Amino acid sequence: MKTKSFPLVPLLLALLLICTAISFAEELAPIQLVKPQMDGGRPLMQVLKDRRTSRSFSSEKLPMQVLSNMLWAAFGVNRPESGKRTAPSAANWQEIDIYVATANGLYLYDAPVYMLRPVLSEDIRAMTGLQSFVQEAPVNLIFVADFSRMGQATDADKDFYSATDTGFISQNVYLYCASQGLATVVSGLIDRPALAEAMKLQPDQRIILAQTVGYPKE
Ligand SMILES: Cc1cc2nc3c(=O)[nH]c(=O)nc-3n(C[C@H](O)[C@H](O)[C@H](O)COP(=O)(O)O)c2cc1C
Repeated sequence: MKTKSFPLVPLLLALLLICTAISFAEELAPIQLVKPQMDGGRPLMQVLKDRRTSRSFSSEKLPMQVLSNMLWAAFGVNRPESGKRTAPSAANWQEIDIYVATANGLYLYDAPVYMLRPVLSEDIRAMTGLQSFVQEAPVNLIFVADFSRMGQATDADKDFYSATDTGFISQNVYLYCASQGLATVVSGLIDRPALAEAMKLQPDQRIILAQTVGYPKE
């Protein structure tokens, strides 16, 4: 009897490719954050006294609760009935997305469901700024405006309002960090075209600023 010959090598290669793709996808699963703690913290006036920029970071990772609290402070939903947030946004466009770059990969903060959505299974921290602290700290936030959410605003208004809206978010991060003894620095010194390419952003998405967060170096 004649046996049928199968193209075994291409079949094995295809299988290998599928397995690799699956394992990459599995590597960066979504992260369901714990619910943020919306009470506690130090008195506001003391926190304002301590707010500062620090550029020296330990590589110690942020616990999940701290990460969740920090992202909620930054631009979380504080009025679920309206979906409004901890920072104001012009015309309530809510056009700023917070991307979170960690050693494991890049995530997008999905505020209403306290979730980190996987974007890239690569460590792109080194690309989030031109200063060396970006690769030493465990977390770099990247504030990205989605101009497609800004209605009929002129280009100049899109630039202006996305920058001002980012400022409020960044200050919330500064205040949370001051409250918790974390170190932080907001950065405008970024190679934006290179970072946008690494993040695979769409043409309507603009990198405004990045912010490094971690524990202070001893
Ligand atoms: C829009 C903006 C961009 C900034 N960009 C950088 C930066 O790229 N690198 C950096 O080390 N600090 C950066 N900073 C931090 C400032 O240098 C810092 O806020 C300033 O020196 C005052 O220090 P303080 O924050 O401790 O009051 C930036 C601050 C702002 C508001």
